[in-house]
Amino acid sequence: AQPTSVSLFEVGPRDGLQNEQSVSTEAKIALVQDLAHAGIKRIEAASFVSPKWVPQMADSAEVLKGIQRLDGVRYSALTPNLKGLELALDASASEVAIFAAASEGFSQKNINCSIEESIERFIPLMEKAKAHNLPVRGYVSCVLGCPYDGEIAVSEVVRVSEILYKLGCYEISLGDTIGVGTPLKARKMVEAVAAKVPVDQLALHFHDTYGQALANILACLETGVSVIDTSVAGLGGCPYAKGASGNLASEDLVYMLHGMGIDTGVDLKRLAAAGNAISQALGKASGSKVARALG
Ligand code: HMG
Ligand code: MG
Repeated sequence: AQPTSVSLFEVGPRDGLQNEQSVSTEAKIALVQDLAHAGIKRIEAASFVSPKWVPQMADSAEVLKGIQRLDGVRYSALTPNLKGLELALDASASEVAIFAAASEGFSQKNINCSIEESIERFIPLMEKAKAHNLPVRGYVSCVLGCPYDGEIAVSEVVRVSEILYKLGCYEISLGDTIGVGTPLKARKMVEAVAAKVPVDQLALHFHDTYGQALANILACLETGVSVIDTSVAGLGGCPYAKGASGNLASEDLVYMLHGMGIDTGVDLKRLAAAGNAISQALGKASGSKVARALG
């Protein structure tokens, strides 16, 4: 049965902007504030990774410290290691996220270590986060395919998801990093993970590289999953496919859900306005079809 409400986890300021040309810190702060005013309750606003790897996120501390925060909104940051966690704590992130992969090739290229080494690295991070009562989210990348290793066994997705869950992540976000999935495959994958991790602690993080994300999400809603990661204006690109699109646009998901009678708590017009403003700062058209239709 489909859920009566879905909550969006907005990743535009992080997953989106990490793959765009750099924009000013002020534009990032305005984006995060606009998203909160549109009714989004969880926003990934920062990423404490090596600035040599991702220069676009180098001002993450200034962004988190500069936001005028709204009550009831959580401002999250990506943290690959203890150093990232310390920076996130210093900038008062409301929660953090660790990220692993279901594919060895991607783990090596993305965080420069094996899957097992990444898990080892997360243990002290989890301990410190727990000591600070900081919720930790866990991402699993390449759940429907890898740019280096190709097809990924569902059993690997289940294995890594369960490890992150048992480490203490409050939610596991399943990443179709390169957007290669299709609906039946996506649903089977989610069902397999849901046999080991409660479905109400799962989220979908589907990139729209091949235009399949909305269809994949619709197919997966029947499993009971009710947290979806999206990026306003479809911000982002794909470092593995030049010219390809980023995450599914938040506006497009909200339009579909509202049309199905599923509540999101989001004001679609304000959301589209937030997306249009950041698209303008980037000097490009919004990547959301709904935002373009609304004009
Ligand atoms: P490394 O080079 O193997 O590790 O990087 P290192 O520990 O030897 O550190 C190298 C340098 O980075 C050192 O500086 C460290 O101080 C610095 P140097 O001495 O050379 O001047 N450093 C840091 N600086 C700031 N913050 C930190 C930090 N840690 C080390 N936290 C590392 C390992 C993990 C740091 C690196 O590989 C990295 O930053 N990778 C991040 C890559 C990334 O951000 N990818 C995109 C996000 S993941 C994603 O988009 C997928 C997702 O959306 C889900 C999906 O779609 O599937 C989540
Ligand atoms: Mg992503």
